[in-house]
Amino acid sequence: MSFRLQPAPVARLNRCQLFGPGSRPQIFEKMATSEADVINLDLEDSVAPDDKATARANVITAIGDIDWGQKTLSVRINGLDTPWWYRDVIDIVEQAPERLDLIMIPKVGNAADLYAVDALVTAAERATGRARPLGFEIIIESAAGISHVEEIAAATPRLQAMSLGAADFAASMGMATTGIGGTQENYYMHREGQKYWSDPWHWAHAAIVAACRTHGVLPVDGPFGDFSDDEGFRAQALRSATLGMVGKWAIHPKQVALANEVFTPTEAAVSEAREILAAMEEATRSGQGATVYKGRLVDIASIKQAEVIVRQAEMIGL
Ligand code: COA
Ligand code: MG
Repeated sequence: MSFRLQPAPVARLNRCQLFGPGSRPQIFEKMATSEADVINLDLEDSVAPDDKATARANVITAIGDIDWGQKTLSVRINGLDTPWWYRDVIDIVEQAPERLDLIMIPKVGNAADLYAVDALVTAAERATGRARPLGFEIIIESAAGISHVEEIAAATPRLQAMSLGAADFAASMGMATTGIGGTQENYYMHREGQKYWSDPWHWAHAAIVAACRTHGVLPVDGPFGDFSDDEGFRAQALRSATLGMVGKWAIHPKQVALANEVFTPTEAAVSEAREILAAMEEATRSGQGATVYKGRLVDIASIKQAEVIVRQAEMIGL
């Protein structure tokens, strides 16, 4: 182990992030009463260019007018390659109530992108006297973003979470797909007349998890476009959870329960984790570093694995 300890990410739930277009204020109340841990009001790609200014105003009003409960509240601003992003930042910092927790920055390509937004947000916060600094979350959704993922993860102490945006990522990479995440028909191994589908998103997920965990940032799986395919969503979310991600986006309200189900440890997993901790406590008391639990080896590393599950369960209040 390096002498540098891995920093802990922010201690909050991020099992599901529910998105809604800022140009569709009729659904904001429904978003607020959903079971999602994080709400993302969107100013970016679900809002048409002519609606950008109205969406910005809708979102700023809704932050103050709607009771968002205990949810983490986030606004996705436009990308740094557009003419809209600086006005998004200025209007949000100057006009949005302090209830807003985060801004989400899409299509981040390198650490300097975050330096630029951080500089603007910092100056605007000082000018307005905002007492609670805004946190950042970002989307990795380009070839540049995944190539510079580690410097991005380390770019600013404001950064709390990082998501993979499958659609823009696929486009930027030149991938031969129009699907948003999930199984890709043409990505398979072949043997003895059988196809075995593989996961083309795997390496990007793993790269994001490693960068995030190195720098104390929450790794999140992004959107799954086909909201009629519950099994596809579940399979994608289970793969992400297995790799270390803490949650997934919902782009339709029916995906919220699916994400919460996958990213909430089961009662069986939690009690097994607690039993492993108890078994290791017992072993430690008798001077041993390893012991046997249900016929398999558990040792000091198992304590850390079990603690991941127990910490999550405690945050949820299980
Ligand atoms: N959050 C909360 N409620 C939502 C919602 C959302 N994102 N999207 C739809 N609803 C509501 C609808 O208002 C409707 O409510 P009702 O039963 O009270 O009438 C109900 O959920 C069912 O909606 P449905 O008719 O199935 O969907 P739709 O055609 O109205 O909208 C989408 C479908 C995909 C356009 C819409 O869900 C959406 O805009 N999603 C988010 C897109 C987005 O933000 N993308 C950016 C990130 S990738
Ligand atoms: Mg995108």
